[in-house]
Amino acid sequence: MIKRKIATGFLLALSFSAGAGPSPKQSGVESWPKIKSAIVQDPAMEARISEIMKSMSLAEKVGQMVQGEIQHVTAEDVKAFHLGSVLNGGGSFPGGDKQAQVSDWLALADQYWAASMDESDGNMGIPILWGTDAVHGHNNVRGATLFPHNIGLGAARDPDLMEKIGEITAREVAATGIDWTFAPTLAVVRDDRWGRSYEGYAESPDLVEDYAGRMVKGLQGSLELGRVIATAKHFIGDGGTNLGKDQGNTEVSEAELRDIHGRGYFPALAAGVQSVMITFNSWNGEKVHGYKYLIQDVLKDRMGFDGLVVSDWNGIGQVKGCSNSDCAQAVLAGIDLFMIPYKAEWRPFIENTIAQVQGGKIPMSRIDDAVRRILRVKMRAGLFDRPKPSQRLADTAQVTAGTVGATEHKNVAREAVRKSLVLLKNNRNLLPIPRSARVLVAGKSADSEANQTGGWTLSWQGTENSKDDYVGVTTVLDAIRSVSTSVTFDQDGSEINRKSHDVAIVVIGETPYAEGRGDLGAADTLELAKLHPEDLEVLKRVKASGVPAVAIYLGGRPLYANKEINLSDAFVAAWLPGSEAEGITDVIFQGPEGGVNYDFTGKLSFSWPQEPCQTPLNVGEKAYDPLFPYGFGLEYGKSSTLAKLPEPSRDFGCGQDSSSPVQDEVRVHDEGQTQEPWGMFIGDPLNDWLGIQVRADEVSTPSIVVTPVDNEEGIQWAARQLVFKGLGQVYFQSLDGAGRNLETFAEAGKLSFQAKLPEVPAADVQLRIDCVYPCIGSIDLTPRLNEIAGKGWQTVTVPLSEFDGVKWNRVDTPFLITTSDALTITIDKVMWEKG
Ligand code: BGC
Ligand code: BGC
Repeated sequence: MIKRKIATGFLLALSFSAGAGPSPKQSGVESWPKIKSAIVQDPAMEARISEIMKSMSLAEKVGQMVQGEIQHVTAEDVKAFHLGSVLNGGGSFPGGDKQAQVSDWLALADQYWAASMDESDGNMGIPILWGTDAVHGHNNVRGATLFPHNIGLGAARDPDLMEKIGEITAREVAATGIDWTFAPTLAVVRDDRWGRSYEGYAESPDLVEDYAGRMVKGLQGSLELGRVIATAKHFIGDGGTNLGKDQGNTEVSEAELRDIHGRGYFPALAAGVQSVMITFNSWNGEKVHGYKYLIQDVLKDRMGFDGLVVSDWNGIGQVKGCSNSDCAQAVLAGIDLFMIPYKAEWRPFIENTIAQVQGGKIPMSRIDDAVRRILRVKMRAGLFDRPKPSQRLADTAQVTAGTVGATEHKNVAREAVRKSLVLLKNNRNLLPIPRSARVLVAGKSADSEANQTGGWTLSWQGTENSKDDYVGVTTVLDAIRSVSTSVTFDQDGSEINRKSHDVAIVVIGETPYAEGRGDLGAADTLELAKLHPEDLEVLKRVKASGVPAVAIYLGGRPLYANKEINLSDAFVAAWLPGSEAEGITDVIFQGPEGGVNYDFTGKLSFSWPQEPCQTPLNVGEKAYDPLFPYGFGLEYGKSSTLAKLPEPSRDFGCGQDSSSPVQDEVRVHDEGQTQEPWGMFIGDPLNDWLGIQVRADEVSTPSIVVTPVDNEEGIQWAARQLVFKGLGQVYFQSLDGAGRNLETFAEAGKLSFQAKLPEVPAADVQLRIDCVYPCIGSIDLTPRLNEIAGKGWQTVTVPLSEFDGVKWNRVDTPFLITTSDALTITIDKVMWEKG
């Protein structure tokens, strides 16, 4: 176990408390610290804001409070609706063009700016504010410097470096004409099943606290040219949801919310962060987007935050009784700027909000407060005094056209990679490798820009990019080739051979994901061998050859990897290093003259599990028993031998439903409705297979349209018509994501449904049952469908025994239909019955 600084939130609260004196309270507004921001209010500026606001109509004010997405906002919209802000979402570029150049970003920024400043209709010109997710460098922009994701930065334990990274990121963002980044994420990650684990610096609030202020300072500086507005997100409790479920429920006391999840906010506010983004999750069952106590009373009134509070992407629609276009509660709770990406929703939001003000539901004072804050942030950021975006930096020496991806920026990213590496095993001092060694490089991630840069890179999920999209990314293989003269690249390791290779470097781990798409289900294991069995195969091959193996793990969270660690002589956790993999070879190879080139300095900021189901696992918790504790990391020069780790064999995932098995029939969709606990979802590759819940009358994705239609008995809208145009799937899944114990059906039960299809399917159709994906059982449904096509309503019955591979005690998806081409099928009465 390592020594760590003991800092309770209570002590911390004292150090940020300005004047009020220590509060012994564990709950209530006064238990939160008062914070003195580095940026203080300027009376002259406030007067200038008052002056501007005097001439603003209600429509102009409410328009200021709205942020649409660049694919759904034109320059004309900015003018007509007086929009205060735009964002580009993850993987959204000017003109939807991934190849967009810096000049294209600037041109679009100029257009929006000009529209916002246009006073020809008699309205006051107010400069628009553009926000982006520059979360590991300016990651939506081709050729930008890509820093390690935050989990790697956490391992670096270097607050000075955070400030440098912030400054560089700001410079690249500003060079594209964008004013604002939605970073840093200050999540304190408590359950590594969470798909956003890698966006957090650490599981410990101490480290998040050490970094938060420095990153804000790096990004914002004094908001001079070349810096950008920072965002502390996601306020509050994002890293604490039950089972690590994204956007889930954080069930903790107020003391824990403050002292664990709140800890990054105190230094961020003290450093003068100008925006705070509200989190999707709930606190004890109530969505934070509608939670006045947390936003207005705690953040604004108590902690004294006077910048702008922005909602997350359609986050208001999740507040009970609200939709994306109508949510007085969120306005009243204290949100100032509303991230409502789509025009079909931001437009009615403006109308609804205006009506709510006119009808007295929202007091004018609340609108005025929101607008004042937005204008204040714009003014502090210099927007009122600067020319159009493309001209802002033109003459400043420190920012030139070559800013994005500049060599000196990449050098800092490379330094960050070096410092983020955590050495977990180095038996017989296999590392550092002599440059003259004959190296075999293997593993699916050795030459994978996608796997090394992860989510939030040129697309939201980080999937779907081609190699050419990653301009300026050096892969691990590229990096090895630049230091070693004898390199064989053989992805699956089958060419390994003791006579020609001195060492194998096997690069393994996770593939990209973002947000909920990266969640591991409640019942899932953290076992690398189950999630990515392909890695184990390569390592086994290498082991069999007798060539010593170095495993480099790339991934967004620690995973139980005893088998892989046992098969490797050295094991390095390199997280999601970004564009500069030379930071890895800097450390794992000897210097040009032999000997240590750079030592390992990285220390775990997330505890490493010793069991497949060991989560939550956090330093400071009771019964803390990790394989490698928080703070662990080997260094050169101290030899250590890791003995063989136990490899318990387990059949099932972790949280399989231990409740008593479901006894009777399972009604999935019947009587016109999808029955509890199931929901209906559509997924297709264009949406990264992210399930879109079918709730409305009609739901469509580019590949699939689901519409309610009359069923066999003519009951209106009781059945569902599925029209597939291409690859996709429609399925019923438990709404809580957890598996259900359906063991009692396994032996003799059957899955049945009514179906009607006008013609035979254009491609094969699979029927699947999932036991928390990737656990699945699938059959070819095509012959059965061919048989009933054109014959009106028919009942399809499939014995459950046909579905191989299903874990019957953890079924989360009792019905999934998937195909890759045209298919029209109407379904009803989907159920499981006993034999
Ligand atoms: C994420 C935020 C992000 C926003 C804008 C949301 O889905 O939760 O972290 O800033 O999208 O892209
Ligand atoms: C998709 C997942 C989805 C699952 C349903 C998979 O094919 O990739 O996104 O949740 O099916 O079990």
